[in-house]
Amino acid sequence: MARAEVPDRPPGEVLVMGAGTIGCFVGGSLAAAGVPVTFVGRPRVLQGLAEHGLALSDLEGGMHRLPAASLRLSEQVPVGAMPALVLLCVKSGATAAAAAELAFALPAGTLVLSLQNGISNCAAASRVGPTLQVLPGMVPYNVAEIGPGAFHRGTAGRLAAQDDAALRPWLPVFARAGVPLDLFPDLLPVQWGKLLLNLNNPVNALSGLPLRDELLQRGYRRCFAALIDEALGVLGSAGIAPAQVAAVPAQRLSAVLRLPDWLFRLVAARMLRIDAKARSSMADDLALGRRTEIDALSGEVVRLAQDQDLEAPRNARMFALLEEWPAQPRRWTARQLQDALGL
Ligand SMILES: NC(=O)c1ccc[n+]([C@@H]2O[C@H](COP(=O)([O-])OP(=O)(O)OC[C@H]3O[C@@H](n4cnc5c(N)ncnc54)[C@H](OP(=O)(O)O)[C@@H]3O)[C@@H](O)[C@H]2O)c1
Repeated sequence: MARAEVPDRPPGEVLVMGAGTIGCFVGGSLAAAGVPVTFVGRPRVLQGLAEHGLALSDLEGGMHRLPAASLRLSEQVPVGAMPALVLLCVKSGATAAAAAELAFALPAGTLVLSLQNGISNCAAASRVGPTLQVLPGMVPYNVAEIGPGAFHRGTAGRLAAQDDAALRPWLPVFARAGVPLDLFPDLLPVQWGKLLLNLNNPVNALSGLPLRDELLQRGYRRCFAALIDEALGVLGSAGIAPAQVAAVPAQRLSAVLRLPDWLFRLVAARMLRIDAKARSSMADDLALGRRTEIDALSGEVVRLAQDQDLEAPRNARMFALLEEWPAQPRRWTARQLQDALGL
C-alpha cells in the first residue's frame, strides 16, 4: 500500500464527472486545496452550487467554504478540456453514458478514477470508453447532501484505489486536501469488503426507517447478516478474500449483527453512532423513484455465484424486491423481510 509522503503541486486539472454527493465532496475538497476542478453535473445540483457556493463539513468538525464565483460548473464535459484526472462519480446505472461522454470529449489516455460502489463500473466504463485509462477506486465513508451546495462527511476513512504510476503523483495532493488516498496492488478484495457492508442498503431501503432505527431491530440485522453470509460463501468459492473495511472483519460483523438487541447495543455502540435521521442513499433513490444500485450490490453477488455454477438465492430475492418496488411500493417489516428471505 503506497501512502502520500511529501505535499506537492497538483499534476494538472481535475474534472468531476457527476457532481453529486461524492463528486462535490471529493472534488470540492481538492478545489479547496487549490486544485483547479471542473464540476460536470445536472442543472439541479449546479444551480445550488451557483447560488450558494460549496460548503463541506465533516464529523471531525472540519469546514471549507468555496464561494460560488470560484467554482467551474458545466452541464457537459467542456469541449477542449484536458484534465489530468477525472473522478467518475455517477451512480452505477449512469456509468456507461457518462463514460461515453468522457471518451467522446477527452483525449485518449485520460486518467479516470471511478469512485463508485460495486465491482464492475470500471469494466463498464472501459467497454464504452476504451480510449480512457479507467482505474477502480473505493470510498469508505458516507457523505450526505445536507442542503443546496452543502455536503457532510458523516463517517471516517481513507479513499482507496488500484495502484498505478499515473495516480502516484496525486497522493500528496489528496492528502493535503483532507481526502487521503491509499493505493493497493489489487483493489478487488477492498471493493468486495465495501460491498459486503453495503448489503445493508437494500434492507434499510425496504425498511423505510432511518439507519439507526433499522439496525436496532434484530430482524433487519438478521437479513443483513444473511446477505453477508451468502456473499462470503460465494467469495470463498471464488477464492476472493474480502478486505476488512469496517472496524471488524465481515465474518465477525455477521455474528455481531445476530446478537439480541440489548447485547448488540453494547457491542456495536460505535456502529450505532449515526445521525438519528440518516438513511442509506438507496432509501432516497426509492423515495424519489430513481433507479437503485441494487445491480451493483446484490447483483454482483448473484453474478459471481453464477460464474461458478452456484446460486445466491437471498441476494437474488433482494435484487427482485428492489426491482419490483416501484410497481408495488411498500414498507417491509423485519418479520416480512425475514420471511421473504427464508429466515
Ligand atoms: N454518497 C455516499 O455516501 C457514497 C459513499 C460511498 C460510495 N458512493 C458511491 O459513489 C457513487 C456516486 O454516489 P452519489 O451518492 O454521489 O450519487 P449522486 O449524489 O446521485 O451523484 C451523482 C450525480 O451525477 C449525475 N449524473 C449522472 N450522469 C451524469 C452525466 N452523464 N453528466 C453529468 N452528471 C451526471 C446524477 O444526476 P442524475 O440523478 O440525474 O442521474 C447525480 O446528480 C455511487 O456509486 C455510490 O454508490 C456513495
